[in-house]
Amino acid sequence: SPETGATPETPSRELTTIGVVGLGTMGAGIAEVFARHGFDVVGVELDDEGVARGRRHLESSTGRAVARGKLSEQEAADLLGRIRTTTSLKDLTDADLVIEAVVESVATKQQIFRELDSIVAPTTILATNTSSLSVTELSTATSHPGRVVGIHFFNPAPVQRLVEVVRTVVTDPTVLADVQDVLARLGKSPVVCGDKAGFIANTLLFGYLNHAASMFEGKYASREDIDAAMRFGCGYPMGPLALLDLIGLDTAYEILETMYRQGRDRLHAPTPILKQMVTAGLLGRKTGRGFYTYEAPDSPTVV
Ligand code: 3HC
Repeated sequence: SPETGATPETPSRELTTIGVVGLGTMGAGIAEVFARHGFDVVGVELDDEGVARGRRHLESSTGRAVARGKLSEQEAADLLGRIRTTTSLKDLTDADLVIEAVVESVATKQQIFRELDSIVAPTTILATNTSSLSVTELSTATSHPGRVVGIHFFNPAPVQRLVEVVRTVVTDPTVLADVQDVLARLGKSPVVCGDKAGFIANTLLFGYLNHAASMFEGKYASREDIDAAMRFGCGYPMGPLALLDLIGLDTAYEILETMYRQGRDRLHAPTPILKQMVTAGLLGRKTGRGFYTYEAPDSPTVV
């Protein structure tokens, strides 16, 4: 039932055309996953530069899959061919599901939902990939809040199996069922939870990441040793400091701030070094430097 998130109801229909608003790291990854599984995707960015950046991201990700023998040249071309890019939300009229993955700003996301509300059909599902904002608050910008749901992917979206489906007190149960069905068709493992900052995974993860940053800040151990401890002692695929670089220190800081503001759990009070690094522009992989230094922005090669 939607109360426990345990057994999804029978889906009411098949969602085939997917809109993705925002083609940054998460949006481009989300567009890629859907296109990889045969869906038609319409990706929307603010301007031509944003579209070009999103396209570059998609081309480099599919190019890597070709280089690793995971996709043939033809499959990669077909995948990219299923993603139409545009700078107008009006091109989303035929979408069955629209996922917004723009900056973590309530005002910006509400504005997008408000506009979409008058563009798409009343049955179109409107989803947000927010990791910490209130889905309920975003839903109030629409005339049908029952069709609004959180669909929270994890980074890198094409790789991580988890997707958190966030229900508000008014999310329609058929919307939940349809979303769980479409995510299962992507090979993802959806989990359902209520609308509280951090949802399940970030609530558990970010206290740990914050603690690791604070341990580094206190010079208790080196970055390599902190990361090695969790990789080799606990079997994590990445150490916490490398993971903070992957997530982006600005994003991590914002998530911690929001969770701390809502829950007042000291675990989530961002350790000072995070703010200092964000102010200094050390945002992690995307700027080439965070706890580690990277050869090129977004490159996983540590220098
Ligand atoms: N985009 C697409 N595919 C990618 C990718 C990317 N950015 N990065 C890696 N991959 C693919 C590779 O192509 C490879 O695919 P293949 O197995 O089909 O060949 C596969 O992922 C494994 O990659 P690598 O062999 O290069 O490297 P690793 O085995 O070390 O895996 C990792 C890299 C997947 C990033 C792994 O280290 C990992 O899972 N790390 C933990 C990530 C994590 O915890 N993410 C959650 C962050 S929290 C979050 O996102 C919430 C948000 O709200 C902040």
